This record gives sequence, structure tokens and C-alpha cells, in this order.
Amino acid sequence: GKSGYDHFMLKEIHEQPRALRQCLRGRVDELGGTVELDELDEPPRPTAVQFVACGTSYHAALYGAQLFQDAGIPAQAFLASEYVTSPPPAGEALVVGVTQSGETADTLSALREAKGRGARTLALTNVVGSTVSRECDHVIYIRAGPEIGVAASKTFASQLAALNLFALATANGGDRDALGALRDLPSEVQAVIDDSTAAAVAEEYLDAEGYFFIGRGLNYPVALEGALKLKEITYRHAEGFAAGELKHGPLALVTENTPVIAIATGDDELARKTVGNVKEVEARNAPVIAVTDGQSDIERYADHVLPIPETHPRTAAVLANVQLQLFAYHTAARLGRSIDKPRNLAKSVTVE
Ligand code: M6R
Repeated sequence: GKSGYDHFMLKEIHEQPRALRQCLRGRVDELGGTVELDELDEPPRPTAVQFVACGTSYHAALYGAQLFQDAGIPAQAFLASEYVTSPPPAGEALVVGVTQSGETADTLSALREAKGRGARTLALTNVVGSTVSRECDHVIYIRAGPEIGVAASKTFASQLAALNLFALATANGGDRDALGALRDLPSEVQAVIDDSTAAAVAEEYLDAEGYFFIGRGLNYPVALEGALKLKEITYRHAEGFAAGELKHGPLALVTENTPVIAIATGDDELARKTVGNVKEVEARNAPVIAVTDGQSDIERYADHVLPIPETHPRTAAVLANVQLQLFAYHTAARLGRSIDKPRNLAKSVTVE
């Protein structure tokens, strides 16, 4: 059952600390600075990685590709449905299917295409015994536990954690900062859930004409995911952009009736540039909701702040996403939507 929550989605948002602990359990040796994934008898040592996925899992794939790029391994994320129609050369690449259910037709057919071209394949999935787990050469389980809500929530967080483990196991093992951040992630997610004011902020924008989500780097997939979640469960128009793209078109849509949710964590070049983009929307009178760890000066240009603790950029993305999940959830709840079963959508999409 829903254990006292109004919806499975809210229950599953709250289950994230536990899901993340399950994902990490027994896999991280912090003393040795290594990651051990039992499912991989021998971790593949790819010279390049291609991710294929759909929807929320595609956002996780975009994040995963950045982790491998950071480790010096060329990596790309493809929408599974586009990989099939125009397959890029697989060459020596490991092709990784990211799919919660393990049954998504588009993702399965992209993987079959890759296999047909001689590529090795790896499945990153939640479901033991799923089609993807049987068809790929390797499998990594994200161990999130069953997810009932059609909108993915805890499985996205677990995908991001598992992608970190996968990248650390195959590419840059020994990154103690990243390992430490992963260890702290479950309790930080709990703290964000406990302290979130997303419900009160959501309340102020129920009549918005549209919602824009912006972020850079690892926060770019988070912006896309924030918008997808809002669309799915509120039926409101929402778009996610790379913050730098805003001025190349979408800015024309920005008004005082379109809140801009900006994710800026850390105090690096990326964060500073995102703050620059926020100034542009603020000058057009758009309400700004900043999701931030307080390191940049984004708060100066924001109408509301949804805070997260200061942490590693990899885990900051997971924490920022929790605020966006709660923002979408509370908007949908106030609009009286069918949150666990949005119109026209199914939990697993088994047709192409
Ligand atoms: O089971 P999968 O991860 O392969 O599913 C992929 C998408 O269908 C899925 O993420 C979809 O976008 C969700 N409804 C997102 O909330």
C-alpha cells in the first residue's frame, strides 16, 4: 500500500534514502577507495561508451555520459528510438542500455541493433530477470525496489548512483571525493526531503503559463528531468534547457507568467554562467526559483530558493532533483491530478 502517503509517487520520493542505501550496500570499499560490482565478474574496460535510453532514463544516460567523459573515456547518450533509425558506428564501444523496467521496446531494439553490429552490451536496470537483463552481455542492478508510480522518481536517483558506481568501477576507481559523496548521499537526500519548502513555492505558481528549467553540466539533465516530471504529472507546459541555450530562442517565451527554475550548484565557471542567464530572465520579470547549495550568488536574483547541502557536483545533481520532484508533485497535488497514473501514459512502454 501507500503507507499513509496520498500517492505512491510521494511514498517513492520518500523512499529514496533507503533505495540509495540499497544501491550502494556492499559495493563501495571506502578504505581501499574502490567499487566492487558483483554482477560484473570482470568489469568491462571500454575505450568508448554509448548509452541508449528513453525518457527519464535518457536523462540518467546524459548524466552517465558526462561521468565517463570526465574520466577521459569518450561517451555519448542517444535517445534509443533515434539510435535504431540511424545507428552510429558501434566500433569498440560498450553500448549501455539504461532502463528501469528492462522492458522498454525502443531501448531493447537499440541494444539489439548494437549487438548486431558486434558491440558488447550492458544493461543498467531495476528489474531482475527483465528482458534487458537476459539479452545483454553484462548487467548492473540499481536495486531501487519496485516503483509503482508511472512517473519515475526513486529509480532516477538510483540510476544516477549506479552510474557513479559503474564509472568508478570501470574508469576512475580511487576517486575518494566521489566515493565519500556517495556514502553521504542517502542522509543528504533525507535532509532535503525533511526541510523542503517546495510545496509552499509550488503553491504560488499554480496559474503559471509555463515553466522553464535551466542548468549546465551535470545539472542540465536534471533540468530536463524536472521539466519532464512536471509535464507528466501536472499536464502543464514545461521545458528544460541547457542554461546557455535560453538566449538562443526560448527567452522569447519568458514573461512574468513563466517561472524559471534554475539549478546552480558549486561556485565554478558553470555556476557563474548560469547566474548570468538568471540575470537575463530576471530582467524580463520572470519569477526565479533557484535550486542551489548557496555557493554562487544566484540567491540575489531569485524570488525563492530551494536549498540543498554543499556537496560533490555528482551528488548535488541528485539532491537538486529531489527538490524538483517535490515541486512537480505538490503542483500536481494542488491541481488535483491523477499523479500515480497520468493520462495517456504507461509504466513500461513495450511498443516502438
Ligand atoms: O523503464 P524505462 O526506464 O526504460 O522507461 C523509460 C521511460 O518510458 C520512462 O522513464 C518514462 O519517461 C517515465 N514515465 C518517466 O517518468
